[in-house]
Amino acid sequence: MQNLVVILGTGGTIAGIAPEGQSDLAYQAAQLPIDALVRAVPELADATLELEQVAQLDSKDMTHALWQTLAQRVHHHLVRAEVQGIVVTHGTDTMEETAYLLQRVLAPAKPVVLTGAMRPASSRHADGPANLADAVALAREPGAHGVLVAMAGSVHGAADVRKAHAHKLDAFGSGDVGPLARFEDDGALRRLRAWPAGDALGVAVLDATPESWPVVEIVTSHAGASGALIDALARGGAKGIVIAATGNGTVHRAIEQALEGAAWADLAVMRATRCCDGAVLDVEGAGAAWPSAGALTPAKARVELMLRLMARREGASAPARPL
Ligand code: SIN
Repeated sequence: MQNLVVILGTGGTIAGIAPEGQSDLAYQAAQLPIDALVRAVPELADATLELEQVAQLDSKDMTHALWQTLAQRVHHHLVRAEVQGIVVTHGTDTMEETAYLLQRVLAPAKPVVLTGAMRPASSRHADGPANLADAVALAREPGAHGVLVAMAGSVHGAADVRKAHAHKLDAFGSGDVGPLARFEDDGALRRLRAWPAGDALGVAVLDATPESWPVVEIVTSHAGASGALIDALARGGAKGIVIAATGNGTVHRAIEQALEGAAWADLAVMRATRCCDGAVLDVEGAGAAWPSAGALTPAKARVELMLRLMARREGASAPARPL
């Protein structure tokens, strides 16, 4: 019977504690273990769950090594016949990057649901328990698949989700396309769009030691930009640069010139927009020499470019993904 949900804990505000009498903003993330988070959710009392503490960190400090471990643990549980879905509790700060990485590497045929909280577990108005209950319900949803983010009653797909607000409870959005689904007030799930799909690169793409993963950095194009960062990265051995470009992927002339001058460095370049919403649409003209990241945020474009370089290095064929 496929009814087991595995919950993997990684830390974040959902596991955070504020000292007695302090504001909800003055807390320390990643304090409570995953079993304590589950015990705080009455709806999960009789659920068939398996819990595993994969890490305990503030997700601003996410590392490639932990991404490797997490992807391997998710893959390990996905292939178990009795597992219906997986939930990952995660800090909200880099949740969109982890979600995107897992989707590109695993493209799971079962739901893998990331959730977290904007208020610590010690808050009188903690949002973590409701988010965790929603995430488990989503992991059990018949037909659901792909990497999803469940926060504040909304469900987002890995490709579109981004943290859009620094501290509001409903901090996540999916840009122009909106959420994939919503939990209604009666708890019913209303689906608005298709579940995430696409080809998996395969977990083996992450097999190399994390220290050897290609260095891919983000450089923002802005008024008064210079090529200094590009030159430094090229000399420092970076393999890829994502430009957080203006508007529809346009790049400051000084950065363009530095990129052209660094052609010897064999840098892979990708343009993402630094705008909050909207995709980079390819048009002839400035910057068009470098591929666009479509609607990916610069942070997710960095993951995409790094994975493409790793897939190429491995000799694995990186399935072309329409960006
Ligand atoms: C974190 O990302 O781990 C801290 C912030 C949060 O979870 O909201």
